[in-house]
Amino acid sequence: MSLIGYAGESMAGLDLDFVRAQFPAFSEPSLADQPFFDNAGGSYACQQVIDRLTAYYHQNKVQPYHLHPVAQQAGALMDQSHQRFADYLNVTADEVHFGPSTSQNTYVLAQAFARWLKPGDEVIVTNQDHEANSGVWRRLERSGVVIREWQVKPETGELDIGDLESLITDKTKLMAFPHCSNIVAHINPVADICAKAKQAGVITIVDGVSYAGHGLPDVDELGADIYLFSLYKTYGPHQGVMVVRQALADTLGNQAHYFNEAYPHKWFVPAGPDHAQVAAAQGVLDYFDTLHAHHFTATTKPSAKAHQLQSLFYAAEQPLLAQLLGFINDHPTLRLVGPADARQRAATVSLLHQQHSPQVLAQSLVDQGIQCGAAHFYAVRLLEAMGIDPTTGVLRLSFVHYTSQTEMDQLLQALDMASQ
Ligand SMILES: Cc1ncc(COP(=O)(O)O)c(C=O)c1O
Repeated sequence: MSLIGYAGESMAGLDLDFVRAQFPAFSEPSLADQPFFDNAGGSYACQQVIDRLTAYYHQNKVQPYHLHPVAQQAGALMDQSHQRFADYLNVTADEVHFGPSTSQNTYVLAQAFARWLKPGDEVIVTNQDHEANSGVWRRLERSGVVIREWQVKPETGELDIGDLESLITDKTKLMAFPHCSNIVAHINPVADICAKAKQAGVITIVDGVSYAGHGLPDVDELGADIYLFSLYKTYGPHQGVMVVRQALADTLGNQAHYFNEAYPHKWFVPAGPDHAQVAAAQGVLDYFDTLHAHHFTATTKPSAKAHQLQSLFYAAEQPLLAQLLGFINDHPTLRLVGPADARQRAATVSLLHQQHSPQVLAQSLVDQGIQCGAAHFYAVRLLEAMGIDPTTGVLRLSFVHYTSQTEMDQLLQALDMASQ
């Protein structure tokens, strides 16, 4: 993985006390002593986002962009979110779209592609994806499009880039795949996959929802045509962020009201924007800026900050992840779902027990104060491919950079107890 290479010269370790002080949940009495291992379902929100949301509702809850100064300011706050996310993701402001969720965003995109694709054109999907980046593309079959499935290795749930050779043909137009799965969390070599696709003239749609909480990507460097993630899993409000590179946006055209043609950042959000949440989304970047200033001496452009923070998060998460994976591997009654090498994974870990169902395991953990989940997590196709019953699914334990060693120790103790 190339993440390590981005560490800035002044980087020490992550200052966890500083990090946790940015999240009100960690000082909320009703949440005390309940280690949070359900981050892949939705992370805690940082103070900066909550402050911005509150301020918007107090001071700017009007129709944005109208002539009154309050309305002008409301619009300016939304514009700032577009620009600041663009700078962090290394794209342009018009290429950043804020929609209600990633599922809604892919739905809109699929409507656009349905009009552009022709019968006989081929689309590659995976059976590793969350359904949000799978079902909408598979339904294009109704318009005569041929769907080809890039299948995981059943033992580990990993995708093999070598398999692409036989899947990409001269009819392939589109390819949808995850940056990393929300179950097996193996980090796919996105830049290599996108380069291969580009060479063959294939458009790439990358679901970064399970990845972005571990560091915002450089979308330009990845080479993806479309990159999606959900802010509610990335310390922010309930919004889906979607980058659509301009050349592709021009091909697909405006999907919103016809008179919004002049505003490219509105093209793929026919629902209309949630003003307050779009304005508050940049609170995530206030948090990242604060974190960067605290850990690095040199100031730098936002996309470089994203690289450095990603390395910082990675270095903080890796030892805990290795500990959790090692514990599961060594445990006589537990089975890891996914590859065992921590360096290739995000900090999302799924597992099964020899006798107990995931629900029984999860209930035992919950009874011991651990927040976690057991389900198929909308990755039904992946579980089926791995021979796992989706009706019971897996136990999933997911954490991020703000998780402490103490919390991991509590989890392992509780897991050992639950696994008797
Ligand atoms: C990997 C992955 N992709 C897509 C989604 C869908 O995101 P949203 O809830 O914003 O529609 C999720 C949600 O859990 C997810 O985990």
